[in-house]
Amino acid sequence: MKKIIIGNWKLNLDHLEAIQLLQKINYSLPDNIEDKIEIILSPSFTSIRSLQTVISSDKLKIKLSSQNVSQFSSGAYTGEVSATQLKKLEIDYGIVGHSERRTLFNEIDLVINDKVNRLIENDIVPVFCFGERIEERKSGSYFNFIENQINEGLKGLRKDKVNKLVVAYEPIWAIGTGEVASLENIVEVLDFVKNIISKKPFFNEDNIKFIYGGSVSPDNAQEILNSKIIDGVLVGGASLDATKFVDIIKAVEL
Ligand code: PGA
Repeated sequence: MKKIIIGNWKLNLDHLEAIQLLQKINYSLPDNIEDKIEIILSPSFTSIRSLQTVISSDKLKIKLSSQNVSQFSSGAYTGEVSATQLKKLEIDYGIVGHSERRTLFNEIDLVINDKVNRLIENDIVPVFCFGERIEERKSGSYFNFIENQINEGLKGLRKDKVNKLVVAYEPIWAIGTGEVASLENIVEVLDFVKNIISKKPFFNEDNIKFIYGGSVSPDNAQEILNSKIIDGVLVGGASLDATKFVDIIKAVEL
């Protein structure tokens, strides 16, 4: 399966800086690597149109993701951005349920489930994030916690509608902390989640990718990316540095 590497730029860079970083990353990529590895950038909403213009005019094979999407399709929802609006910008992916949305903006499973559905209706691949806090990790209750996030967040999805899905394990204690989960931690949770998802009506072995995010850097990327059961990574901090991000991409053994 083709590995995917997503750079989540979070609340950083204006649209001009975003174009510069895209160009820097593109310039540093080994020739035709995008045919072997799917490379996705997730900028702020305000940069998506600018990056899309560069990507289409320069015929780049880098893809775009949003960092969030409204649970609503249209209407009186001040400040929201819909999946339909995003689809017009030719994005392929949309991150939903990121822990920063869950914890800082009180997004609950029900809302996340709506967002997943809005993306699917618009043919945008959801990058569904889940993961436990340090409390659940320490108390050993993380399996229950994760199972609930998966069951609620992906509730009601139908096989004929879910063309592709990315499921990202993002333990909160590893995000932006420099503390990366061990390969054993990641494999244990992804195995557990694959088992839950394999019993869902929408399950399709070829179209669901299971990835990891949390302090991924050039130092740990090789071990993570070359594990057979991990299909890719979601990179935060290190994706803002073109050299580090490209080094992570280069860590994939082709
Ligand atoms: P980080 O962020 O790589 O900075 O830990 C990961 C994420 O939030 O997806």
